[in-house]
Amino acid sequence: MKTTFPTDFLWGGALAANQVEGAYNVGGKGLSTSDYQPHGLMYPATERPAGEFNLKEIAIDFYHRYPQDIALFAEMGFKTLRTSIAWTRIYPRGDEEVPNEEGLAFYDALFDEMLKYGIQPLITLSHYEMPYALVKHYGGWGNRKTIGFFERYATTVFERYQHKVKYWLTFNEINVSLFSCFTGLGLPEGSSEQAVYQAVHHQLVASARAVKACHRIIPDAKIGNMVAAMPYYPLTCHPDDLLEAQRKEREWLFFFDVQARGDYPSHIQRRFKERNIELEISPQDREDLRETIDFLSFSYYMSSCATADKDKQQATGNILKMIPNPYLSASEWGWQIDPAGLRHLLNQLWDRYQKPLFIVENGLGAKDRIEADGSIQDDYRIAYLNDHLVQVHEAIADGVEVLGYTCWGPIDIVSASTCEMSKRYGFIHVDRDDHGEGTLQRRRKKSFGWYKQVIATGGESL
Ligand code: BG6
Repeated sequence: MKTTFPTDFLWGGALAANQVEGAYNVGGKGLSTSDYQPHGLMYPATERPAGEFNLKEIAIDFYHRYPQDIALFAEMGFKTLRTSIAWTRIYPRGDEEVPNEEGLAFYDALFDEMLKYGIQPLITLSHYEMPYALVKHYGGWGNRKTIGFFERYATTVFERYQHKVKYWLTFNEINVSLFSCFTGLGLPEGSSEQAVYQAVHHQLVASARAVKACHRIIPDAKIGNMVAAMPYYPLTCHPDDLLEAQRKEREWLFFFDVQARGDYPSHIQRRFKERNIELEISPQDREDLRETIDFLSFSYYMSSCATADKDKQQATGNILKMIPNPYLSASEWGWQIDPAGLRHLLNQLWDRYQKPLFIVENGLGAKDRIEADGSIQDDYRIAYLNDHLVQVHEAIADGVEVLGYTCWGPIDIVSASTCEMSKRYGFIHVDRDDHGEGTLQRRRKKSFGWYKQVIATGGESL
């Protein structure tokens, strides 16, 4: 097809430190909440019996093998690679005054390797992990002091990598804290809504302060937020279903509202009032929140339906809960596949905020089979990504400003929600199974050549 992707469109892929690096206790790294979540992010971080198996301790050994992996991304023509910095490599406990030089040096080398191929690092400051010591001794984001610890960490990495990293994100899927308060916020399981929103407030202030520090230290950089976005369709055309869809969308739009507009939106005030939520927000907090992001970023995997009918509110899915849509099929993990939903979402966010958008996660988790000849014919993955990219193109043609697209897990990694290797997203297969067996050898799948072609033709091969 003839496409209109901009010539400087940032094609690439996205990773997260705790799902790829391994080397969990190497180079002075402290233990993070993720190191205490061997079963995935929907289970609280608890101190585990010694020796309990955690796939992420080695993950795909990216810490040692990144030169080989980046060479493969370069072979596909990546213009950008999104990954995160593990906060615990820089500040192992989180509350130190002085950073860990070995951790800083690791990311210097990693970013240099990307830049060698002209791959722009797109760096998430916090991707589903924080120093476990901050949770244990301070109560995580429930404690206002964590804002200061995060600001110190963010400032350290902005200063250190100011000449290497020009695209930054603050907190990964910041809205998922509403469903899993222990993962994003380090709060105890079952925390009250009041406690969750207070901790969310601290995180929003920390994000805004990081944005401010980034603007000051790296004026030519762009910094965005990151929200797990999920469009909701009214299950029927009953007006109550439409209102329920709007209510559900506002749960995550709230984060864009604060981070892109710099203040709490009016719609949340009623919700707070009805649920007796009263937040402690200082005048300085309000001032800090006014420092807004340069672009909006989000993950998009699926859409859902919304209904006001309580009997039909049976939801499926493991991170974001979904009410099945009769017009859509779903992945093996029950995530509903909806390419047109991505076009709708891009238009919706553009209409609402008029800021550039960056799709920083999208992809299909699937079980792959190695054929007798050693090949992996992942046509299902090609179909999923192709259909979504066609819709990105449609949105661009609609007039939406899209900076780039980084599909999730361009190399197989440990899944975040279920902590397994069987759920694979990659163009590159990694020989490791759910029990940690395998050589860690890398192998190109059929989709590798497909994505290479898409990038080489600027999307014309879609
Ligand atoms: C997002 C996360 O929720 O979805 C990633 O930002 C995660 O960390 C991705 O890996 C896909 O989820 P999963 O559970 O299939 O790995």
